[in-house]
Amino acid sequence: MKVLVIGGAGYIGSHVVKALLADHADVTVYDDLSSGHKINLFPAAHFVEGNILDYGQLEKTMRQGFEAVVHLAAKKAVGESMINPELYAENNLLGAVHILNAMAQNNVKALVFSSSAAVYGMPEYLPVDEKHPLNPISFYGFTKQETERLMDWYDRLKGIKYTALRYFNAAGYDASGAIKGRDRHPQNLLPIIKEVVDGKRQYLSVFGNDYETRDGTCIRDYVHVSDLADAHVSAIKRLLAGRPSGIFNLGTSQGVSVKEVIDATERIIGKPLPVRFEEHRLGDPAVLVAASDLAESELGWKPRYTLIDDIIRTEL
Ligand code: UD1
Repeated sequence: MKVLVIGGAGYIGSHVVKALLADHADVTVYDDLSSGHKINLFPAAHFVEGNILDYGQLEKTMRQGFEAVVHLAAKKAVGESMINPELYAENNLLGAVHILNAMAQNNVKALVFSSSAAVYGMPEYLPVDEKHPLNPISFYGFTKQETERLMDWYDRLKGIKYTALRYFNAAGYDASGAIKGRDRHPQNLLPIIKEVVDGKRQYLSVFGNDYETRDGTCIRDYVHVSDLADAHVSAIKRLLAGRPSGIFNLGTSQGVSVKEVIDATERIIGKPLPVRFEEHRLGDPAVLVAASDLAESELGWKPRYTLIDDIIRTEL
């Protein structure tokens, strides 16, 4: 299996590369190292330093006879996408067009794409399944939805089969410690907690404790990054076996509150975590939990990490 992993030095990408190598795939990483890290590159994988906006280099890289492409090279900060949509339009939309065009030009017929629960917007019912209406409330979520639509057209017109994996809250790190590069400016709950535990931040700001949930804090579906990585390997194999394009949620179907994340962290570190309660963050739904039955039936995927304590332990 010869696979090009675009964004393979990033947080999720590096875990995908590790899972592919464990499955004896021939892996090439294409990454501009803008948010990814050199230390996340595995010596067993080939590496091309390049940007998806550089069509010439991307297309040249694509000439190596890949059977499948994994695209994880999007910008992912929801707040930033609302302030700087130009950056997200260019990187996430134009970047996706480049990848699809380079695949079409070189007859590569299988694409696995990192999509996001952000395509759903505010949940109208729970758990959220793939039939839930798509109403992204961030420009980031919009770019994910548009890329899914684009892939659908390239499937019909160019025969490129795709799998969009809609991640819920990706969390944790490879348990063997093989992946060391951390996000430079973390925006998500667990990496921020890690910075507080490491003394790089004085406290954790909790965005609201008066939501209509069991303890007043928001509930999310935290799914371990190594479980996400396994789903990519299954998704590639499924496409190469001739199955049709598909869109699958990836979550554990278990809701965990911010307070429960804090409690679990305190159990692990054996002392209180400094916390300050603040106002709601704009655009935060009270509860977001996935129905992942489709991923189970179509990809044979079942997350191995089901306890938040185990996920957090790999983060810290
Ligand atoms: C969001 C996106 C998700 C995207 C992810 C990546 C939506 C609905 N979800 O997830 O698709 O892939 O970002 O960036 O747009 N929290 C705090 N304090 C903090 C940070 C977070 O209390 O300092 C709380 C948030 O209010 C939320 C929970 O922790 O309830 C998780 O937040 P976060 O890790 O930022 O992920 P989402 O916003 O759920």
